[in-house]
Amino acid sequence: MAARRKSAPARKGRGKAATPRPAKRPARQAVAAEPAASPLDACACVADLEIIARRKLPQGVYDYYAGGAEDEQTLDANREAFRRVFLRPRALVGVARVDTATTVLGAPVSLPVLIAPVAYQRMADPEGEVATACAAAAAGTLMIVSTIATASIEEIAGAAPGPRWFQLYMAPERALSEDLIARAEAAGYQGICLTVDTPMLGRRERDVRNRFAPTGMVLRNFEGDLARMPRTRMGSGFAVGASRLLDPSITWDSVRWMRGVTRLPIIVKGVIAAADVELALDAGVSAIVVSNHGGRQLDGCEPALAALPHVVEAAAGRVEIYVDGGVRRGSDVVKALALGARAVLIGRPVVWGLAAGGQAGVACVLEMLRSELAMAMALCGCPTIASIERELVVEPWAARATPQRA
Ligand SMILES: Cc1cc2nc3c(=O)[nH]c(=O)nc-3n(C[C@H](O)[C@H](O)[C@H](O)COP(=O)(O)O)c2cc1C
Repeated sequence: MAARRKSAPARKGRGKAATPRPAKRPARQAVAAEPAASPLDACACVADLEIIARRKLPQGVYDYYAGGAEDEQTLDANREAFRRVFLRPRALVGVARVDTATTVLGAPVSLPVLIAPVAYQRMADPEGEVATACAAAAAGTLMIVSTIATASIEEIAGAAPGPRWFQLYMAPERALSEDLIARAEAAGYQGICLTVDTPMLGRRERDVRNRFAPTGMVLRNFEGDLARMPRTRMGSGFAVGASRLLDPSITWDSVRWMRGVTRLPIIVKGVIAAADVELALDAGVSAIVVSNHGGRQLDGCEPALAALPHVVEAAAGRVEIYVDGGVRRGSDVVKALALGARAVLIGRPVVWGLAAGGQAGVACVLEMLRSELAMAMALCGCPTIASIERELVVEPWAARATPQRA
């Protein structure tokens, strides 16, 4: 859903003649800012970057990035969930120094905000995933590279230092998946992130209406037919093309198969039910991303933030838990960490940054979230990531009880 603000940043003039300057300026105009050199300079928050991105991108591309499945209930609910959680700050803790650094699976990151796997980044900017990788490395955070990236595993690895994980959609032909895993391993990726909420593609109705088909784009991890999406007479060409890369018969045995073909840690992305935690652990995963794919898969799915505490409880500290879906503010990061996440992932904000200003735009998003996070931590009385505790949040779901059968 598009962010709406009353005052958009750096809007272009409407071509009217300039209003004559008054002989003497009123005092309050003396502090008026110089025009911003770059549209990014006029942005105060992630929502401002989305406004610029929306203006720059063709409608079909914007809708592909922004949209969710069906009625977009889950897309909206992800964001709404953060609004429903409130913070209960502690006073007079001493926050002259605030440190946002942490680790994910042992890799140091300068803030607990990781780059989610997002497909087709070259539609937002000609440098696409390479620009994102450079911005992530400069900011000191980890990027997860999509299977359906428009830059190859190796190209991204060569462009910037890590840390980096490779996101896998399990293909119907295991040999294809095995090859991608081996390539990621050889290119120095430090984890394989298997997406488990996509045995088939959710129905994204904006793409259906737009007959969305990114035919000019090449999926650089593939060759031949698989590298390009078909144009269809009706519906989403993207959905038809992506379906060729997804195995609907995938089960936890498929994760065990992966465990046998790679020495890298496996992170499963797309768990919502606490009941799946034990199965994931049995299959040998090292971390779990609580996610509903940013509302792009099962519409009506529980918001990721609401599912998080239950997954955290089931995991009982045995694996790291991350969450994504609707993170747009530093205070959202604090809420997620207080509910037990080790880190959050951001998806669309990265694309808005890319479209608004390429690598500098992604850097801008990460810096905004870093400074908002540091501010929220300070105002909560949390000088370190370790000091963000459960008591910090007033949780609207705390009263949720499991219904008892008579
Ligand atoms: C345009 C777009 C493309 C995405 N592509 C992938 C993908 O290739 N693989 C994947 O596992 N998740 C993909 N996702 C889901 C994200 O990894 C992430 O779960 C989601 O964007 C988080 O929600 P947010 O956008 O509200 O931050 C995509 C999301 C978007 C918006």
